[in-house]
Amino acid sequence: MSTHIGAGLGEIAPHVLLPGDPLRARWIAETFLEDARCYSEVRGMYGYTGTYRGERVSVQGSGMGLPSLSIYVNELFREYDVQTVVRVGSCGALTEDLALRDLVIASGACTDSSMNRIRFEGLDYAPVADYPLLRAAHDAFDARDLDVAARVGLIFSSDSFYAARPELMQRMVGYGVLAVEMEASALYTLAAQHGRRALAICTVSDHLVTGEETTAQERQETFEDMVAIALDAMLA
Ligand code: ADE
Repeated sequence: MSTHIGAGLGEIAPHVLLPGDPLRARWIAETFLEDARCYSEVRGMYGYTGTYRGERVSVQGSGMGLPSLSIYVNELFREYDVQTVVRVGSCGALTEDLALRDLVIASGACTDSSMNRIRFEGLDYAPVADYPLLRAAHDAFDARDLDVAARVGLIFSSDSFYAARPELMQRMVGYGVLAVEMEASALYTLAAQHGRRALAICTVSDHLVTGEETTAQERQETFEDMVAIALDAMLA
């Protein structure tokens, strides 16, 4: 087992879905996977492996924020030889072009985190998604007749859920940023470092312009559609 994941070698599949919330990881395993088996309960950050349409797939909670995600993704890449990670999360919309429940497929992730500033000694790095995975996710969206839109574009991975300077987010919108979440920039950077494939797909759970929020029922339904799209893309 690794420091934070209680799985033996070979217990985690090459393809991993990564929700922030460990209870969502359990729900995905129970809802989508056959023969799902829990491989880790360390710190309550559940991980499961099962099969989806005959292929082995794992689902691992990442926790909230770049530092927590980085712990799990480092260990998935370094210790368990994971090849593909698709984050399935939520985001806050920053532009009126997005509606609640829409999907944002993140082509790249800006950030206010210091993690990459430290990694690159002050130079800016542009963390981007794996393009074939991104295209497969968009194709999987198109193949379903959903009543929400999917947008491909930039997201902002913030260290703060409660932003100290919300006006800076609006400046980012002027440069094409669609939504804010808290993890994708670290995921994309680690995937690049290790030569693996990564994608972040987020559903809009709250709207920072209009102040609207999804209900728990709406979040559940859109989460289900997003997971189906992520699984199709990962195994395409
Ligand atoms: N995830 C979902 N909504 C968010 C928000 N408003 N800020 C940061 N992360 C989020």
